[in-house]
Amino acid sequence: MRVIITGAASGIGRAVAELLVAESSAHQMLLTDRDGEGLAVVAAAVGASAGTCVADLSSPDCGDVIVAAALAHMGGVDAVVSNAGIIASAPLVEQTTELFDRIYAINTRATWLLAKAAHPHLAASRGAFVATASMSATQPTPGLGFYSSSKAALLMLVRQLSLEWGPDGIRCNTVSPGPTYTPMTQAGYADADRRAAREAMIPLRKLGMAEDVANTIRFLLSPQAGHITGIDILVDGGMSNNLMPATGGGTGQAASK
Ligand SMILES: NC(=O)c1ccc[n+]([C@@H]2O[C@H](COP(=O)([O-])OP(=O)(O)OC[C@H]3O[C@@H](n4cnc5c(N)ncnc54)[C@H](O)[C@@H]3O)[C@@H](O)[C@H]2O)c1
Repeated sequence: MRVIITGAASGIGRAVAELLVAESSAHQMLLTDRDGEGLAVVAAAVGASAGTCVADLSSPDCGDVIVAAALAHMGGVDAVVSNAGIIASAPLVEQTTELFDRIYAINTRATWLLAKAAHPHLAASRGAFVATASMSATQPTPGLGFYSSSKAALLMLVRQLSLEWGPDGIRCNTVSPGPTYTPMTQAGYADADRRAAREAMIPLRKLGMAEDVANTIRFLLSPQAGHITGIDILVDGGMSNNLMPATGGGTGQAASK
């Protein structure tokens, strides 16, 4: 498989690259990130199958730049993992138009730009496209108004792609991680009490790991998902089902007569 992975220098993107190289030396990858140093570390770990492209997804030409690098390295594209994203925390009334544009450019627009540039090559290979959204795309999240809404837009963007690209044989899906331990979040979980409180809210009683999300992305890229398109898979340990338990609903109540 010839695959483009964004956000490959860290966290979930890195885990996808490591999963693929562990699976088969036949996979070829174009790893891309704005963090050139981190990318070099991951590329060295992955080995000769990896090409790299340092690119900033906030740039309007990012799709063309990344796909050109992929073609130079691999000669074609069978799969795209549009995974990179950024987070910013503040109430909506304190946010700025600059930050709105930046978050939407990276979390939403870049996926469209990459998809647009990759389309003829994915059509040629009848390939697969997976984007990393978030549990916050469907759950309003305190302090993360730009993030959650940019990920909600991403969910619909990929569903639209699945509709438009289905006749080309291209499958398009998203994964939505819940709380996941990666460099994006690990500082927040350094406080053991905070981590324990978060894990207590998750039915499986543990944070997700980058590998949990990478395994789901791998499934969506695989022939085993060959008739699946336009869906989102939550990888959240069941947390999104925890609203009623968190309110105490159903606990200790007398049965209706
Ligand atoms: N970690 C979580 O709890 C969690 C939960 C839900 C969704 N997600 C999503 O998962 C995806 C991966 O996140 P992660 O946890 O691995 O985070 P991470 O911070 O470890 O990795 C993100 C990578 O994206 C890169 N990146 C950021 N902005 C970029 C830009 N403008 N151009 C190019 N590269 C850029 C970073 O350099 C980094 O290497 C993101 O889309 C994130 O929103 C993460």
